[in-house]
Amino acid sequence: MKQFSQKHLLGIKEISTEDIQLVFETADNFKSIINRPIKKVPSMRDVTVANVFFENSTRTRISFELAQKRLSADIINFAASSSSVSKGETLIDTVKNILAMKVDMVVMRHPAPGACVFLAKHIDATIINAGDGTHEHPTQALLDAYSIREKLGSIKGKKIVIVGDIAHSRVALSNILCLKKLGAEVMVCGPNTLIPKYIASLGVKVETDLMKALNWCDVANMLRIQLERQEQNNFPSLREYSMLYGLNEERLHLLNKEIVIMHPGPINRGVEITSAVADSKHSIILDQVENGVAVRMAVMYLLAGKQA
Ligand code: CP
Repeated sequence: MKQFSQKHLLGIKEISTEDIQLVFETADNFKSIINRPIKKVPSMRDVTVANVFFENSTRTRISFELAQKRLSADIINFAASSSSVSKGETLIDTVKNILAMKVDMVVMRHPAPGACVFLAKHIDATIINAGDGTHEHPTQALLDAYSIREKLGSIKGKKIVIVGDIAHSRVALSNILCLKKLGAEVMVCGPNTLIPKYIASLGVKVETDLMKALNWCDVANMLRIQLERQEQNNFPSLREYSMLYGLNEERLHLLNKEIVIMHPGPINRGVEITSAVADSKHSIILDQVENGVAVRMAVMYLLAGKQA
């Protein structure tokens, strides 16, 4: 039987192409299971998972929790805002206290890049990174790539543009690493102020003209401007950003082809994408959310098997 190569899922950087393919094959099975009338399997019975979120989340937190319930895991949910973190407790003390209650796996979101790597060095449980600051969001990249594979049949050779706030986006970095490992051509597009200089060293094309990027691609993944992470004014206003980089129906009509539209959420409707495009037949945004449950089931199932 094939096995995941790592004890943790800290980032896409740490896993192999074979690991990614194994997640996809396992997710295919779970996707068919969760579309049956009886959606629950006993695969993680007796495994206890703590969902530790130091940052807000809707999709990722709910998706992980649902995936754990479908796998019959025992779950503890921890939100920093209502915990003793507000009294000054450190990350390690918080997690060590949770682990003292015999927790096997920790799914963590944290605003500090590298927080999951740090934790993995100090505690024994399996760690899954649910987004660490501007660094990585590996399960988002896996579900995004899985959704492209489902829609287009394969990823190798496909042209994917990631548009927007590349500089502050963990989704962008994890997507680039994942898509490149799977043989896609990747481009980033946005204002120069939101594209870090190092990005070309990852083997991606860089484009500042949205129409050129859209004409080039098979898939456009539109990112939110991360207003909470801007340390300076990187563009004059959201209105101006939207005029230059917002995806709307007019821009899609100017293309001589159909492209697939993606967005990791949360969407700022009317800024990076209009409602008409987000809700159009070209959009696979809700497929991404649906696939997130099967992909996260696959990741946790494979990592739990690694513990045995
Ligand atoms: N895509 C994503 O990570 O969304 P949340 O912040 O709602 O989890």
